[in-house]
Amino acid sequence: MITVSNVSVNFSGTPLFSDVNLKLTDNNCYGIIGANGAGKSTFLKVLSGDLEPTKGEVIIPENTRMSVLKQDHFAFDEYTVVDTVIYGNKKLYDIMKEKDAIYMKEDFSDEDGIRASELEAEFAEMNGWEAESDASKLIQGLGLSEEILYSQMSSLTGNEKVKVLLAQALFGNPQIILLDEPTNNLDIKAIAWLEDFILDYEGTVIVVSHDRHFLNTVCTHMIDIDYNKIKMYVGNYEFWYESSQLIQAMIKQQNKRQRKR
Ligand SMILES: Nc1ncnc2c1ncn2[C@@H]1O[C@H](COP(=O)(O)OP(=O)(O)OP(=O)(O)O)[C@@H](O)[C@H]1O
Ligand SMILES: [Mg+2]
Repeated sequence: MITVSNVSVNFSGTPLFSDVNLKLTDNNCYGIIGANGAGKSTFLKVLSGDLEPTKGEVIIPENTRMSVLKQDHFAFDEYTVVDTVIYGNKKLYDIMKEKDAIYMKEDFSDEDGIRASELEAEFAEMNGWEAESDASKLIQGLGLSEEILYSQMSSLTGNEKVKVLLAQALFGNPQIILLDEPTNNLDIKAIAWLEDFILDYEGTVIVVSHDRHFLNTVCTHMIDIDYNKIKMYVGNYEFWYESSQLIQAMIKQQNKRQRKR
């Protein structure tokens, strides 16, 4: 669960949004919508902790693992595909690498042995032995060949990299997933796979998207950023659209009536 409490963001004095109060809970998918430049990506950065709000706070229970779709397509160029995906669960990744480094040592001391067995225990506890096959499933689900698992990220095309970074964000069963425009550069098959993934997922998903079909399929709630206000509605995009049109029509009618009087 994420609690957004009295959050405001100003850039050089100009408010982007003010006094936002929201509770985002498990088993729900929240779609963030709003015009270009309304502050969707900024709001996501506030939720992920990448950006400190000007006022208020975002509260996330301790030991909650949150995963964010990386926007920098070159950040993992030095990594293999499988390492990039497993990096999505940073703790597991670090254990795996420390363990591998110990086994690579030529002078393996008693202390190394003790440390290695500690790491092995933690690794097993975190289902580490399944990490590669889990990564492979995600990669293949998104329509990439298993054969690229051990390729260097720098050797992939832009679209392939986007898919690997998406697999990274989904890897290892995080409790919260934040996705900014995840369907950009995805083919229809990969979008359908992502929709199924989100529908089956039991944590909290928060997604910025301009793709109405996608929003309609996956969202349980809409978060609308408009005129410096952030409002949450229950329902998918279509439901939000229909009801907001209805409300606008009602307001117009009321105004007309008042003018006549
Ligand atoms: N670090 C920053 N400093 C100053 N202004 C910023 C900063 N980050 C974003 N902005 C401004 O805040 C506004 C909202 O930006 P943001 O990227 O959150 O919009 P968005 O809703 O994601 O837009 P888009 O649909 O184009 O992705 C923009 O006017 C942007 O120029
Ligand atoms: Mg944006």
